[in-house]
Amino acid sequence: MLEARPVPTPSPASSPVSLAAPPDPAWWRGAAIYQLYVRSFADSDGDGTGDLPGVLARLPYLAELGIDAIWFNPWYPSPMSDAGYDIADYRDIDPVFGTLADADAVISEAHALGIRIIIDIVPNHGSDQHQWFREALAAGPGSAARTRFHFRNGLGRSGELPPNNWQSIFGGPAWTRVTEADGRPGQWYLHLFAPEQPDFNWASPEVRAEFEDVLRFWFERGADGIRIDSAALLTKDPALSDIDGPDAAGSRPSGSGPAERAHPYQDRDDVHEIYRSWRAVADAYPGRVLIGEIWLPDAARLARYVSPGELHAVFNFPYLTCAWDAARLREVIDGTLALHTPVGAPPTWVLSNHDVDRIVSRYGRSKTSFSLQARDHSQPVDLALGTRRARAAALLTMALPGSVYVYQGEELGLWEVEDIPAELRQDPIWHRTSGRDPGRDGSRVPLPWAGPEPPFGFSPPGATGRPWLPQPAGWREVTVEREAGDPGSMLELYRRALRIRRAEPALGDGPMSWRPDPDGASGASGASGASGVLAFDRRAADGGGDGAGVSCVANLSGGPVSLPAGAEVLLASSPLDGGLLPPDTTAWLRVQGGPAAG
Ligand code: NOJ
Repeated sequence: MLEARPVPTPSPASSPVSLAAPPDPAWWRGAAIYQLYVRSFADSDGDGTGDLPGVLARLPYLAELGIDAIWFNPWYPSPMSDAGYDIADYRDIDPVFGTLADADAVISEAHALGIRIIIDIVPNHGSDQHQWFREALAAGPGSAARTRFHFRNGLGRSGELPPNNWQSIFGGPAWTRVTEADGRPGQWYLHLFAPEQPDFNWASPEVRAEFEDVLRFWFERGADGIRIDSAALLTKDPALSDIDGPDAAGSRPSGSGPAERAHPYQDRDDVHEIYRSWRAVADAYPGRVLIGEIWLPDAARLARYVSPGELHAVFNFPYLTCAWDAARLREVIDGTLALHTPVGAPPTWVLSNHDVDRIVSRYGRSKTSFSLQARDHSQPVDLALGTRRARAAALLTMALPGSVYVYQGEELGLWEVEDIPAELRQDPIWHRTSGRDPGRDGSRVPLPWAGPEPPFGFSPPGATGRPWLPQPAGWREVTVEREAGDPGSMLELYRRALRIRRAEPALGDGPMSWRPDPDGASGASGASGASGVLAFDRRAADGGGDGAGVSCVANLSGGPVSLPAGAEVLLASSPLDGGLLPPDTTAWLRVQGGPAAG
């Protein structure tokens, strides 16, 4: 029988910030981390927006789910031009979410339940309502206040043209012209995202000192980790030179040649100095971690961010964007291990987040890969197929070595809401592309907790506000209330998988080895994956447990496959068929005699 690791008993400590997380400095290497999008998690005061008291009340749900940590999307004061990724004050909480005291209470109570807290820091840009930006506008051209951002005179006869040809990642130009105090059109400022998100100038020592102080502020309050937004974009070519070719349009570099390496704002060499100094800050607080949001196709360049003395982990976007295809997944998994193993960093495995389409919809389309540049909501979705595959993907993902992320609602099998009326959409991507890109609202719709109709328990009875994005009526089938206790539900699959993963020393951090094709009928290379089946063994690095280990077999082929002789099924994403593993199904197995030799 598998025994869950004991959850620490809640402490009666009255001072919230003094309650430290349980001691285990390497907790993050194999952690299951829940991404909590506060606006859409639970609304305690009935205004239609999720908040921290709502989170506090639902922490037992997360403890029962079996996660080790929560990553909170930004919770700071913000005009919400980009759902909180436009921060006006890095040391406070937005009133719509609550207060600093509420954050303290959440951190404290989460720690008491054995759950660690990761917060989101956005260092590339702030908000146009940040005090520094207001000072910069007031102080005028040439002022010290403007050196904290990228202000430049425009080109053209009267400065009417932007300083260079950079385009915003959200669409439109990356420069906005300001009106100076005398009422005349003046300088331009850089914003790689929306105009409300001015980029900080990381060549400024003040900017560097400020963010190190912000890190300390949250570490002192008990945060166990920092998710670093847009981590590869911080430093810019001081000449702010034009970009040739497709990158001018805000796309990310697609190769690893010298031209891409010299990109004026993407993955520049001097960004690493910043993370070395952040690492020194984090190391002063035991068990604190730094996790980078870095979209880079070049594995060697990505590895530099997790080399010793820099970040602890980076998000695995090649895995997140990969098609539901065994050969391609095998390539991505091998590539991920090849990147991480030499530098000693644990891989991360992510299926979805608040920026991408929900997997149930994605896997139910004919095109199952995802691209930020080609979000497409015009394809038909087979929800039953997508759900079946999402279940199989969840078990595959949770069996891989390293840490795993679960985006809120993934555990309920929520689908992408594709029919949000235009007038209710909030994502700047939708607005700045005039709706050509459907944007990310569809993956951010408030969670359904209970009941037969919206707001599905997201807001309390008698709420005055509607959920900030409309919930589809069909979510009555996927509420927490409906799924809890139903052995066939996505929620119970996640609960059981996370419970086994936590109890099983072979899962989480540690080595893995591929199995040969389970039918012996291997494909061209003979490797797992070639015939549409991914099969691998996990065994505890230190020989912990009974040494039996766990094997994982994911069948992405079109027909059923047999399982290794004598295998005991610990968990399967769909029922077996006459002892065979059906298509789009993953099983976790205890194999007699232990895992196959590597
Ligand atoms: C990445 C975040 O995940 C996304 O939501 C945000 O819009 C951009 N960075 C800009 O901060």
